[in-house]
Amino acid sequence: MKKIYGIIGDPVAHSLSPVMHNAAFDKLGMDAVYLAFRVSKGELGDAIRGAKSLGIAGLNVTIPLKEKALFFVDVEEVAKKIGAINTIDFSSGTPVGYNTDGIGSQRVLQETVGEINGKNVLILGAGGAAKAISFYLDTEGARVTIANRTKKRAAQLASNLRNADFCGLGVELEKRIEASDILINATSVGMHPHEDATLVNADMMHPDLVVFDIVYNPMETKLLREAKHAGVKKIVDGVKMLVYQGAASFRIWTKKEPPVEVMEKAVRDGLSSSSKSTD
Ligand code: ATR
Repeated sequence: MKKIYGIIGDPVAHSLSPVMHNAAFDKLGMDAVYLAFRVSKGELGDAIRGAKSLGIAGLNVTIPLKEKALFFVDVEEVAKKIGAINTIDFSSGTPVGYNTDGIGSQRVLQETVGEINGKNVLILGAGGAAKAISFYLDTEGARVTIANRTKKRAAQLASNLRNADFCGLGVELEKRIEASDILINATSVGMHPHEDATLVNADMMHPDLVVFDIVYNPMETKLLREAKHAGVKKIVDGVKMLVYQGAASFRIWTKKEPPVEVMEKAVRDGLSSSSKSTD
C-alpha cells in the first residue's frame, strides 16, 4: 500500500518539503507520497493522533508547532535537550519525535566554515529553529550569542546552553556582530511574502563574516542581499539546510539513503518557478 508522509504547520502552503520528498520517492522508485497539511496550534494534538490512526508513516513539523508538538509524542533524547521537534516517526506504533534541524545546520556550517570550535556565532531568534541550531553549535564549542526581539526569550535559551550570551535587537546587536565570525538568521523575518524585511543591514556587517539565512523562500533574502552589499564573501542560503534536515528525516522514516542532489535540485527548481507566481 502507498505510504503517506507529510508536513504540518501554519502557514504551510509555500513549503517546498513536498516537492523535495516526492522527488526523492520518485528517484528511489518508492510507492509513497508527501503532502502538506495546514494545522493550527489548537488542532495539533488531534492532528497527530489522527495521523497515527490513519496510518500516516511520517510527518515533518514546522512553524509554529515545533515546540508544542513535544507534548504529543515520545521525544528522542537530543530533541528533548533542544526542546523542539521537526520530525515524527510512526513506524513503531507510538509517535516518536526527533529534531533534524540542528543536524541540517551543522552539516551546512561544516561545508562552509569547517571547524566550529572557538568561533563566535550570533544567532538571530530564540524559537524552535534557533534552539536546534544553537544546541549543536554550543555542543561543538562555538561561543554563541542569541539575539532576539523578545529579550527574555533570548536569555532563557542562552541559559540552557553551556557557553552562550544573549542580547536584544537594538544598538547592542551592532557591537555583537562586529565581534562575530558567523551570523545566522533563525527567525522567519524575510520570508515570502515579507521579502523586504531584514533584522540586519549592510552597514552592520563586515566582509569576513559568514552570513547564513535559514529562510529559503526567497532563495536570496534581503539579509543575503545586504550581506553582498557589505562585501561578505561567504553567503549561505536556506536551501541546503532544508535539504539536509529533510534528508535526515527521510533516513529516520525509510532507513534508506536519500538522494540529496535530486532533493536539492527539486527545491531550487521549485523556488525558481514559484518566484514567477504572485501568491
Ligand atoms: P520557529 O519554531 O520556526 O523558530 P517560532 O518559535 O515562532 O518559530 O520563532 C520565531 C522567531 O522569529 C522568534 O525568535 C521571533 O521573535 P520573538 O521571540 O520576539 O517572537 C522571531 N521573529 C518573528 N517575527 C519577527 C519580527 N518581525 N521581528 C523580529 N523577530 C521576529
